[in-house]
Amino acid sequence: MSEQNINTAINDKQRVAIHAANLVEDGMIVGLGTGSTANYFIEELARRKQEKGLQFTAVASSVVSTVKAQQLGIDLLAIEHVDTLDLYVDGADEVTADLTLLKGRGADLVREKLLAKASQQMIVMVDNSKLVSLIGENYPIPIEVMPFAWQLVQKSLYKIGGQGGLRPSANGDGLAVTSHGSLVLDITFDAHIDDSTLNRLLNAIPGVVEHGIFYRLASLVLIANNNQVEERQANKTG
Ligand code: A5P
Repeated sequence: MSEQNINTAINDKQRVAIHAANLVEDGMIVGLGTGSTANYFIEELARRKQEKGLQFTAVASSVVSTVKAQQLGIDLLAIEHVDTLDLYVDGADEVTADLTLLKGRGADLVREKLLAKASQQMIVMVDNSKLVSLIGENYPIPIEVMPFAWQLVQKSLYKIGGQGGLRPSANGDGLAVTSHGSLVLDITFDAHIDDSTLNRLLNAIPGVVEHGIFYRLASLVLIANNNQVEERQANKTG
């Protein structure tokens, strides 16, 4: 197969994941995100380790990414043993022009945000369908709550213009529970609340364990579009 045919045979998620994996260098500590794009990234890292001898240590952001990495022979450090990472590489559900992210369709928001914050660089892998003008445009904001606090948190969220309720489990006969035993409120907000304000308001509500707005955490966003990958760097002065 020619190089051009190989390039078009892979999908956008694979393409952007391969681009991200090429940014990993020998000796790095790398955080592994969660989701279908992160899975491609983990596969490509494993391939580079096996075929090119790339040496790195990884930290997983979820049970799913832990299992995936272990199956592919990637060495993992427990999150408890890490105070800084070189890179954290993950997908996202939405990305705005100032590189604010919405994450959390999975159930591991807490670990994802901890690793994003602890990393020298957070690299985000998306395709152009994930670009939005305001966070919450395509999805509700996931808000992880202490199980006993969900009604009080919901009331606080309603007071700031939120609407929504508890996320059902995947098979629909119960409630979604995160890997730390929290519940998730999926909440939509009035379009006039900007991302920075919403991030601040959610951070201040007691009983919220974590929420899906990743504000000023992304350093580099890789966007797959038309068989190409565009790199967008965060504005460091912003
Ligand atoms: C995990 O909790 C999520 O934030 C994912 O990173 C996000 O949903 C992107 O997933 P995909 O890579 O599967 O689109």
